[in-house]
Amino acid sequence: MSSESQTSGEVPVLELRQLCKSFGGLQATREVTLRIMPGDRQAIIGPNGAGKTTLFNLITGIYPVTSGQVLLFGQDVTKWPSHKRTAMGMARTFQVTHLFPGLTVLDNVLLAIKGLRRSKFVMWRFLSSYKEVYDKAYHLLEQAGFLDRKDLEVRNLSHGEQRQLEIVLGLASDPKILLLDEPAAGLSSGESTDMAKFLMKLDPKLAILLIEHDMDVVFDVASQISVLHFGQILETGTPKQIHSSAKVQEIYLGTD
Ligand SMILES: Nc1ncnc2c1ncn2[C@@H]1O[C@H](COP(=O)(O)OP(=O)(O)OP(=O)(O)O)[C@@H](O)[C@H]1O
Ligand SMILES: [Mg+2]
Repeated sequence: MSSESQTSGEVPVLELRQLCKSFGGLQATREVTLRIMPGDRQAIIGPNGAGKTTLFNLITGIYPVTSGQVLLFGQDVTKWPSHKRTAMGMARTFQVTHLFPGLTVLDNVLLAIKGLRRSKFVMWRFLSSYKEVYDKAYHLLEQAGFLDRKDLEVRNLSHGEQRQLEIVLGLASDPKILLLDEPAAGLSSGESTDMAKFLMKLDPKLAILLIEHDMDVVFDVASQISVLHFGQILETGTPKQIHSSAKVQEIYLGTD
């Protein structure tokens, strides 16, 4: 492990070193190197099938890597299971919704918190731990501006609200880095704007790595954008640099 190359001396929350993943003959991830510092807001964009979700699956330990390293706070976690990475401060949301639609907003949050704890059904600890879990759920809902809707069944929330709630559930583990896979997927343009506002209100110390096709959301939320193409980072830059990049325009217009 070496963090000597850092000029600031600050350890990255997440670092990827020459990460590769092959599915049989298909190289879905090619030599991806990336560094995310506390509070960074980075986006990964790229056409369908570019390898964005695969990269998240490598970072979170859902897929084993073919080669390369994943470091969390300078520690090599490449071979760690997902739950250990979560415990160390990593959370993610998925491209497809993972909520319980028949339960209330509050119950969904309570379950997310409870699911993270070891002492699930120990009766003598139940009351004190229940209060702790309840307080935490209220706190999360309040911070996210959801307290007024805590008793609504999730199925009665709009699609945009459901996607925001998923992020609230991701915050239950007090992550230092949040990985969001297309939080604005399937949202109307008004709902996407609300999503961007919601993301911008999250704790500024929280690092966010965002996969997103909606460029308005990307440009609002991210200060750094990496473009993934055939599993490889083609270019990294500020929203302005990426916007005016000829290479990026080529990919999106499909002329390469
Ligand atoms: N489990 C798997 N087994 C085999 N091939 C896979 C697997 N997961 C992903 N792939 C392939 O890897 C490539 C990258 O897929 P991935 O889902 O990471 O793309 P993506 O950038 O997230 O696309 P989208 O924007 O459509 O979500 C695709 O060619 C896909 O078919
Ligand atoms: Mg994907």
